[in-house]
Amino acid sequence: TALESFVRGLPKAELHIHIEGSLEPELIFQLAKRNGITLSYPSVEALRAAYAFTDLQSFLDIYYAGASVLITEQDFYDMAMAYFRRAAADQVIHAELFFDPQTHTERGIAIGTVINGLVRAQAAAKAELGVTSALILCFLRHLSEDDAFKTLAEAEPFLQHIVGVGLDSSEVGHPPEKFARVFAKARALGLRAVAHAGEEGPPAYVWGALDVLHVQRIDHGVQSIRDEQLMQRLIDTRMPLTVCPLSNVKLCVYKHLADHNLGQMLARGVCVTINSDDPAYFGGYMNQNFVETVMALNLTAADARQLAANSFEASFVDADARAAMM
Ligand code: HPA
Ligand code: ZN
Repeated sequence: TALESFVRGLPKAELHIHIEGSLEPELIFQLAKRNGITLSYPSVEALRAAYAFTDLQSFLDIYYAGASVLITEQDFYDMAMAYFRRAAADQVIHAELFFDPQTHTERGIAIGTVINGLVRAQAAAKAELGVTSALILCFLRHLSEDDAFKTLAEAEPFLQHIVGVGLDSSEVGHPPEKFARVFAKARALGLRAVAHAGEEGPPAYVWGALDVLHVQRIDHGVQSIRDEQLMQRLIDTRMPLTVCPLSNVKLCVYKHLADHNLGQMLARGVCVTINSDDPAYFGGYMNQNFVETVMALNLTAADARQLAANSFEASFVDADARAAMM
């Protein structure tokens, strides 16, 4: 349709993409072979067939297993370049990538191996595809705050490559308050802050991310709709939510895409954005998320334009560069 072509062609920023979640089954098998690793699935098809999730944790278990094939700097480069090519094809002109150092350092991979591979891919993406990008270091919230402090210390020699910190993994039972001190340290180092909150967790976790972690964006945040005072806060402050519609359906936050609250949030003036989260696992990159959401929620071309504008407004690019992108 004409609306679909319009949506596909809009320049966009992607702000919620876990780079380890862009690892396609084909690349998992290729890297396993290159690194002499035996996978517990016999084939690409068998692995893909296991991507049937009931909630966040059921996904995380298989996501961390998939990431175990990443060993060398070249592996991280290849993974990120595959993502950047897909992003460019979807008119993503700027991307802010989450990466999970602890998933790799726990297996004995040096944080420099991870970051150097990603940084080399960022340079190639800019030169070859015209895609600009930034890196956001995420702490795994199922691990301790001490562990997060250790990770931040290991990252300090690479701080010029990192725009901010985030918080991901198992949400319920691991509230933002658990990471108050390490986020304060990161902010003191000049880093921006974001956090996953209100994906499966309650509105109280969104309040905690705002008032205790002092984040500049909320990742997901869809549960905020259950708290009217919180909704008003998000609207009044133009606090961005990086929403991931296909992810929410795959992880059973919503049964059907048509049930998603993104349209309501947008209509009320919340700065919502559309993102792919873990596209290799959730069945679609940026344009698939955009097109399916616009169709399922009966959004208009003006709504789509607003969503794309929100993605630049919510990004960490400086004002001049942002004006040029919009
Ligand atoms: N939520 C929490 N942690 C994650 C996600 C997510 O959607 N994707 C990768 N790690
Ligand atoms: Zn996420």
